Formats: sequence, structure tokens, C-alpha cells
Amino acid sequence: MVVADLDGAGAASTAAALEARRPASALGLAADVGTEAGNVELIRAAEEAVGPIDLFFANAGVGIGGDLDTPESVWDTSFAVNTHAHRWAAKHLVPGWVARGEGYFCSTASAAGLLSQIGSAPYSLTKHAAVAFAEWLSITYGDRGIRVSCLCPQGVNTHMLTGGDLGSNLGGDVVRSAGVVLEPEEVAEVVHQAIVDERFLILPHPEVHTYLQRKATDVERWLAGMRKLQARMAPGTAG
Ligand SMILES: NC(=O)c1ccc[n+]([C@@H]2O[C@H](COP(=O)([O-])OP(=O)(O)OC[C@H]3O[C@@H](n4cnc5c(N)ncnc54)[C@H](O)[C@@H]3O)[C@@H](O)[C@H]2O)c1
Repeated sequence: MVVADLDGAGAASTAAALEARRPASALGLAADVGTEAGNVELIRAAEEAVGPIDLFFANAGVGIGGDLDTPESVWDTSFAVNTHAHRWAAKHLVPGWVARGEGYFCSTASAAGLLSQIGSAPYSLTKHAAVAFAEWLSITYGDRGIRVSCLCPQGVNTHMLTGGDLGSNLGGDVVRSAGVVLEPEEVAEVVHQAIVDERFLILPHPEVHTYLQRKATDVERWLAGMRKLQARMAPGTAG
């Protein structure tokens, strides 16, 4: 198993923690998945270390940016990490998987990719795009042995929610108040079972399914409800 992150030391310590818990080797690598070259290098290094990749989990993400004044550089980083990273990884993995007749691509989007993220246009757009890409991948390659899952959680107790931009100025309060905040270990259990079951949509917060049904059934009512939530959580942000 290979664990990769922009923070190479963090990836190494996660790999060491995994190794301590299970009888399998884990390698931590520094990687920047926000560029195509970074994805190519990660795939090369992982395959050199462990052989052909069976399952690729595109989990890196950034919760940055807010309203219409968000700088272009923040939009670019959001799309690069939250959306294009998935496309770049798939571009360099799927041809080999099709040749082998199997491969598993799992990506982390967010409930914000199915619903919305109050307080952040870049997060909402890039996570919707991530869901759309995973759907397209499943439709296009599902009959050629490629399995795809897409993880769409609400609040999870990680740095993004507690210490990152999403927590501090992009509506961490909204995320927290909108539902139960799960521990990463709880999400991991749900993800593991979904991959065993080869299920596309992974919803660790089952209420997200209900919200999605409400949105699909009556989008006007859903939007009105979201406006009320936004007014309660971030008064004045809509100008
Ligand atoms: N925490 C939540 O409430 C929540 C909810 C829904 C979805 N998500 C998604 O879950 C995923 C994991 O986030 P998390 O909650 O663990 O937050 P986190 O901030 O703890 O982890 C995100 C990781 O992505 C890494 N990263 C950022 N840019 C990178 C790059 N260019 N190359 C390589 N790594 C990079 C960061 O270094 C960080 O370790 C993200 O895609 C996030 O959007 C989180």
C-alpha cells in the first residue's frame, strides 16, 4: 500500500501507523496531485514500489475560497486538486486497467458535490465536477472491468473541518450544524464495506440520501431551505 500527500512527512507517519496496525507493508510518499506531472510521478513511484495498482483512491482535497471575489489562483487550485487530479490519475491508470480487465477508482468528492457548500462557490463547483467525473468514468468503463466509487460525506472530524479554511471561514459551523460529524475511522469502515460491495455512491451520512431525494423531488423548495440555512449560518454573506 502507498500513502501519498503534499505533506510527505505526514504521508510517512500515516504509512507507519498503518503498518503498525496490519501485517502488510505501507510506503509514504510526497506527491503533488494538483498537476498532471505530479500524478504521473506518483503512479510511477507507486508501481515501482508495489507493482501494478489495483485500487487508486483520489482523496486529496482543498476547502478554500468563498464568494464571487475569490481570487483566480484559488479557483485554479480548487479545480486542480478537487477535480482535475481525479481526471489526471484516471487518464494514466485506466488504459492499463482496461488492458488488464480490472481496476478500481475511488474518489472523494463531498455531500457538497451532490447538494451545495454554503459559503464556498469553489468547493461547491469543484466537488460537483468530481461527482460528475466519477459518474462518467463508471458509465464509460463500468462494462470493461473498471469499478468506480465516489465518497460524499458531510462533516468529518479532520483538519479541513477543525483547522482548515473550511472550518475557519468557509462555513465549518454550517457543516457542523448541518449534521453529525463523523470520525475518520467511522468513514473508513463505511468506505471499506462499500468497496467490498462495489457500490458507486458512498454516503457515510445516510441523511444525505434523504436531502438528495428532496432536492431531486422539489428543487425550488430545496433551494428555499438552503437560503434559510445560509441566512441562519452566515448572515449577510450573500450581500
Ligand atoms: N472533513 C470534512 O468534513 C469533509 C467533508 C466532505 C469531504 N471531504 C473531503 O475529504 C477529503 C480529505 O479531506 P480531509 O477531511 O481529510 O481534510 P484534510 O485537510 O485533513 O486532508 C486533505 C489532504 O489533502 C492534501 N493535499 C492538498 N493538496 C494536495 C496536493 N496538491 N497534492 C497532494 N495532497 C494534497 C493535504 O495535504 C491534506 O493532507 C478531501 O477531498 C475533502 O474535500 C472532507
